[in-house]
Amino acid sequence: MHDSAADVRAAFAEQAGWCRALGSPLTAAVCDLLAEREWPEGEVARRLISWPGDPRPSGDAVPLRMCGGLHAGVRAGTLSALAACYPPNAMPETERLGAAIDEAMVSPGLAEWLDRPPQTNEVGRSNALFAGVLAFAWRFPLPVALFELGASAGLNLGMDRFGFDLGGLQTGDPSSPLQLKPEWTGPPPPEAKIEVIGRHGVDLTPLDPLSDGDRLLAFVWADQAQRIAQLEAALKVAEAQPVTIDTDDAASWIEVKLAEAQPEGTSRLFYHSIAFQYFPPASQQRVASAIERAGERATERAPIGWLRFERTPDEQDPTLRLKCWPGGEDQLLATCHPHGACINWLGDAPAR
Ligand SMILES: C[S@@+](CC[C@H](N)C(=O)[O-])C[C@H]1O[C@@H](n2cnc3c(N)ncnc32)[C@H](O)[C@@H]1O
Repeated sequence: MHDSAADVRAAFAEQAGWCRALGSPLTAAVCDLLAEREWPEGEVARRLISWPGDPRPSGDAVPLRMCGGLHAGVRAGTLSALAACYPPNAMPETERLGAAIDEAMVSPGLAEWLDRPPQTNEVGRSNALFAGVLAFAWRFPLPVALFELGASAGLNLGMDRFGFDLGGLQTGDPSSPLQLKPEWTGPPPPEAKIEVIGRHGVDLTPLDPLSDGDRLLAFVWADQAQRIAQLEAALKVAEAQPVTIDTDDAASWIEVKLAEAQPEGTSRLFYHSIAFQYFPPASQQRVASAIERAGERATERAPIGWLRFERTPDEQDPTLRLKCWPGGEDQLLATCHPHGACINWLGDAPAR
């Protein structure tokens, strides 16, 4: 008979490896313990033992659902023993952390975190995305309308409202509550004036920065203080100037958007970050062909761009690529840390 519990344990062990590689030793330790310990009897254990789908990080992401629930309880003050093991406290002894997890596993409310997949909105990716917007605006110095696919809570649609130091280039809004300074190698991106005239976003399940902030924060790993602080600041920016995210599949949405007339003297930039891989293959194809077809109609006075911060199956690190029309030149602009913390800028801006 198929052993779901063994699959779930293997999923926790695999997630532990990812957390370790991505700089979260605490979440790695939590996942290791959940992979190895006996689960105390209760609703959470029952659901883990009989998980009906694929629990792996690349499937239903059960470990991240659990880690999100545990972190949410710590943040809300309902899991005091676990909170004593989480920052700002020092990393605990393994046995103490294990006992706190056992206690948390039978706490009311944790089981419901298994109902929905994890969902994040990583504002560190704006480090690369904004550099891409600069490269596009350098090539086409026109007011730009932004269109984000798989936008989650839409936080990166407000990226021009953040301040940046990108390889020594001070750009964005210096008075923003969110100031970003990624580790940068290579020359700075081109300097360009950015005038955003439209912000449009779509997601299958958009989150609302006003009501879903705690959920978003729960899915950031508890020992990554900088990411938490960045997200809190980005939520403040979004609360002050909300952006509506449409609920739809990316392909259906972009086909409608591209059918709308583009005013002369404006540009349009379509972009996505760590989202394309989640679109069904048919949607991926439709998105690509809708943009390519629109590209054929683009002019110097009404250009379009397609900016992608994505990891392709054959690449180790995510890359930032920009395709511009008219012309259809596609350029590799940078390689990036998955959360945007380090950017290796490759130097060339699109030819003017
Ligand atoms: C890993 S998150 C990345 C979110 C955001 N781009 C970021 O970088 O923080 C992927 C997002 O893609 C959305 N998504 C998945 N399939 C989609 C589809 N077919 N159409 C639109 N959005 C989709 C998910 O709901 C999720 O918000």
